[in-house]
Amino acid sequence: MEIISTIAVLRETLQGRQPVVFVPTMGNLHEGHIALAELARQHGRTVVVSIFVNPLQFGPGEDLAKYPRTLEADCRKLQAAGADIVFTPSAEELFPTPQQFQVEPPPFANELCGAFRPGHFRGVATIVLKLFNIVQPACAVFGKKDYQQLFIIRGMVREFDLPLKIFAGETQRAEDGLALSSRNGYLKAEERAEAPRLYQNLRLIHEAVTSGRRDFATLESAAAADLARHGWQVDYISLRNAGTLQPAQAGDAALVVLGAARLGTTRLIDNVEFRSAG
Ligand code: PAF
Repeated sequence: MEIISTIAVLRETLQGRQPVVFVPTMGNLHEGHIALAELARQHGRTVVVSIFVNPLQFGPGEDLAKYPRTLEADCRKLQAAGADIVFTPSAEELFPTPQQFQVEPPPFANELCGAFRPGHFRGVATIVLKLFNIVQPACAVFGKKDYQQLFIIRGMVREFDLPLKIFAGETQRAEDGLALSSRNGYLKAEERAEAPRLYQNLRLIHEAVTSGRRDFATLESAAAADLARHGWQVDYISLRNAGTLQPAQAGDAALVVLGAARLGTTRLIDNVEFRSAG
């Protein structure tokens, strides 16, 4: 496995090694990322994983400075997962001058997580487009845990006619259901014990809807109230059409319930995709 930190060396190294499959990450890798790298392995000849903590997607007061940087451990895990190249550019390599052109996603990017993290998806779309242009992969892999991010990236690829396919990896979970996330490491012991409640509430909504309930707003409010009662600060619990990410309608068959909430200072997100009789 090669570790490369400049665009010029990456481009030279990738010559003649197509098809390339690309997994963009911000490092601090866990089993969820490793599953994405393994999925990537099935779809191409050369697996490139990038590790870059992207300042464009962090708002003021967010965790950019304290975001865990664990390059050595990450590289060991990626080697074991069969990655071929780890691309670890510095901020100076990617932004030799300030990034003034940015990708503006549609207004929908200001809903759900976007409503609580203004500009976040602009920062994500901008870095992802930039990385796609650098790596020029035939396909790229993103996790379903960041469901809105995946939806926005798919839209960007479609609307800009980018010549690559997007594959989605399933959310990996701890035994108690907590979705694996780099941010779980911030949780104190008692918060970690409480953390699966977000997923449990999303599952309750899934079960209620599949057994025929259509009072979506009541279900969302009940889940938010349960979390609040247990000390969470809830950003949103929202049942959406999985194909459009618009608020769910009674006849929708493909659904996803998404949630974001804070435990102490840690913001967790999760979602459950499911089909209902419509
Ligand atoms: O999902 C992430 O880790 C990041 O948002 C991404 C896609 C690597 C862009 O910085």
